[in-house]
Amino acid sequence: MKPETTAARLANKVALVTGGSRGIGEAIAIRLAAEGASVAITYTSAKEKAEAVVKSIEAAGGRALAIKADSGDAAEVKNAVDETVRALGALDILVNNAGVAIMAPLDEFKLEDFDRTFAVNVRGVFVASQEASRHMKEGGRIIIIGSTNADRMPFPGGSVYAMSKAAVAGLTKGLARDLGPRGITVTNVQPGPVNTDMNPETGPFAESLKKLMAIDRYGKGEEIAAFVAFLASAEAAYITGSSLTIDGGFGA
Ligand SMILES: NC(=O)c1ccc[n+]([C@@H]2O[C@H](COP(=O)([O-])OP(=O)(O)OC[C@H]3O[C@@H](n4cnc5c(N)ncnc54)[C@H](OP(=O)(O)O)[C@@H]3O)[C@@H](O)[C@H]2O)c1
Repeated sequence: MKPETTAARLANKVALVTGGSRGIGEAIAIRLAAEGASVAITYTSAKEKAEAVVKSIEAAGGRALAIKADSGDAAEVKNAVDETVRALGALDILVNNAGVAIMAPLDEFKLEDFDRTFAVNVRGVFVASQEASRHMKEGGRIIIIGSTNADRMPFPGGSVYAMSKAAVAGLTKGLARDLGPRGITVTNVQPGPVNTDMNPETGPFAESLKKLMAIDRYGKGEEIAAFVAFLASAEAAYITGSSLTIDGGFGA
């Protein structure tokens, strides 16, 4: 889906999107680049897919870079931020998108999966935000991709995922206070079900989830990306500390 905007709202901005090789992160990277930003993405395993995202941005006349960095590893996250600044000259927009969704019945939930969820979905977001904020100037943007599951977890097995997304909603409020005086905003985008590898619209949860939504379909990565691009723009300068839901009425 081609963005409908014509103005290059993000011209001369540099963005880093964690987990940008597939799914929502890919759509965000492509949208930010289409609006004029130079974009770095991280990935852990899908190297070819990450390179394909870079090529498609370059083919459209943009500037992009793929960096292998596990959000669960603080040194790799810091390196990804620093590499973005070295290669693209600055960092104005951080999109903390990388996440894992490990679901299992309570009795079977492994503590290593608890730790991995927390390391990627929460600690990785904190580390990236801390490191990115060191480079950001006034007008900087930190955007977190949380989940509507922070507010509503409609089936069993998702307690740890829901916890991680509720944690970043709290983190958003605190970071907004830390960074507001410097003119940097922090927002938490909470999607409902979006058709990706993590949650395919033909997957095991799809039919039960669709019944809970006001709009009878899954969301598209491009719809989340359009919202993120607005939050990254100058027009969104007065939105901070907020968790903003985009869920087809899932929580209505
Ligand atoms: N899909 C939904 O319904 C939905 C709803 C609400 C919120 N969300 C949130 O939206 C975000 C993106 O979800 P998605 O559905 O697009 O997921 P996805 O289809 O599984 O894609 C995840 C992306 O993140 C990368 N990634 C995974 N683990 C990583 C790690 N440890 N470090 C760095 N990159 C990593 C993946 O690349 P590699 O495989 O190469 O690592 C891939 O690019 C997540 O935070 C998720 O919780 C999704």
